Amino acid sequence: MKIVITKSYEEMSEEAFRLVKAVVKENPEAVLGLATGTTPLGLYARMAEDHRRGGTSYRGIRTVNLDEYVGLGPGSDQSYVYFMRKNLFSHLDILPENTHIANGLAPDLAEECARYNRLLETMQQDIQVLGIGSNGHIAFNEPGTPFGSETHVVALAESTIRDNARLFAREEDVPRKALTMGLKNIMHARRVLILANGAGKAKAVCGLVRGAVTEQLPASVLQLHPDCTLVVDEAAASLL
Ligand code: F6R
Repeated sequence: MKIVITKSYEEMSEEAFRLVKAVVKENPEAVLGLATGTTPLGLYARMAEDHRRGGTSYRGIRTVNLDEYVGLGPGSDQSYVYFMRKNLFSHLDILPENTHIANGLAPDLAEECARYNRLLETMQQDIQVLGIGSNGHIAFNEPGTPFGSETHVVALAESTIRDNARLFAREEDVPRKALTMGLKNIMHARRVLILANGAGKAKAVCGLVRGAVTEQLPASVLQLHPDCTLVVDEAAASLL
């Protein structure tokens, strides 16, 4: 695993932007695997700004997102499909039909997982952007998720519900279930870029880099990926 320690969140975002832009420039039809959450916001702001000022085109780019809350759709400002439109897609010239995210409103969730898996098989990520949960989750693969998992429905861990409550009016409003790419789908990416900032991620980052490869810390599976880059700020790297 390649590790880049940066001084600040801004520098972490700049480095991530540099890596993602290189993929887009090298292959204008690349598949980008994308994450939601607070961590990649600086990266997405830079991609939007670079498109606006520098004209980098996303017309041939396709995207797949990691996860979505069950029960939320484009009409909800807490859904991940809404988050992606607001923070990234609406600022780029990407074609809406080329952006993919599991449907949290699907009437048959098992069928939706199977559909998303079939889609992922045809869309290997040229780069997969990840954040990390304070409990070591990646996407919504909570501790204990098998490394061989594919897209599935997950009951969110109590710690994840607490962490994500800051984005909802009340903790009771955080959905208890989500659809998530599995660890196998993430490991299938040609390249992985995992970002982390803040002291709250230090323990998980330490486990990711130095800990045993164990399903108890899902991100540790990335130690087995042939091309994984971790970009962290100093606070998140403080236990390394
Ligand atoms: C989001 C996702 C999650 C987040 C993680 C960190 O699509 O899959 O694994 O990356 O929970 O969230 P933030 O960035 O909000 O700290």
